[in-house]
Amino acid sequence: MTAQLLDGKTIAATIRLDIKEKIANRRAAGERAPGLAVIMVGDNPASEVYVRNKQMACAEVGFHSELYALPATTAQSDLLALIDHLNTDPLLDGILVQLPLPPQMDEEAVIERIAPTKDVDGFHPYNVGRLVLRMPLLRPCTPKGVMTLLAHTGRDLSGLDAVVIGQSNIVGRPMALELLAARCTVTICHSRTKDLAAKVQAADVLVAAVGRAQFVPGAWIKPGALVIDVGINRGADGKLVGDVDFASCAERAAWITPVPGGVGPMTIASLLENTLQAAELHAQH
Ligand code: GUN
Repeated sequence: MTAQLLDGKTIAATIRLDIKEKIANRRAAGERAPGLAVIMVGDNPASEVYVRNKQMACAEVGFHSELYALPATTAQSDLLALIDHLNTDPLLDGILVQLPLPPQMDEEAVIERIAPTKDVDGFHPYNVGRLVLRMPLLRPCTPKGVMTLLAHTGRDLSGLDAVVIGQSNIVGRPMALELLAARCTVTICHSRTKDLAAKVQAADVLVAAVGRAQFVPGAWIKPGALVIDVGINRGADGKLVGDVDFASCAERAAWITPVPGGVGPMTIASLLENTLQAAELHAQH
């Protein structure tokens, strides 16, 4: 391996420690702890793991957190009524509805119901629009965490060719907007993209968010590229693997994220940052 490891696990732990100190200082000054409500509908096993990790991170830094675990049969109107109630709760700064929702729910309608200053996922059209216009408020957690990782390489991103594989609302699209705001030339690739290999081979920065185990081979990596792997997949042997083939890609990249221990912990660190940011916004009003 020639690449340097972009160690999200360690960087995220540093961010959590920094937030924990800030919270201790705020509390010493008589301010309340930031509060996060997490809503999970149904019993998706992956969602249960993510939600547990989010709760544990809140506890570690001293945030107040509340979990609402609703049955899969919940009516959308009941979920919307809960969000209305949480929107006006003065002890809560953030509301996170874990996705995906069960099929009877309209995800866009649910996300739009969250007060934009409590939308710590950054998924509300208000926050997405602000990111488009380069005046971000609450930024989607995974792309924000990726930008923090890229900052740790010390590289100036301005003018670099960036390729994002994946066009989801959660990762691919906001990721492309973040890279564009950092003055990269950005290409978004997806399942209809022609000659994906050629596009990836031209990338100075590659963000893979495909959801397919070891989809990107080392032969596609431009020597010296920054390679960010957002994927979390189960390999044939049951082990967690990313969307890039780590061993062969690490032979050519300058920097690469491991899976696990790369982007995953950064997403949660960004959620904590956003919840603190929301608490600061609410304290001003
Ligand atoms: N499901 C997968 N990723 C996410 C995320 O970042 N936030 C929420 N709310 N749901 C998700």
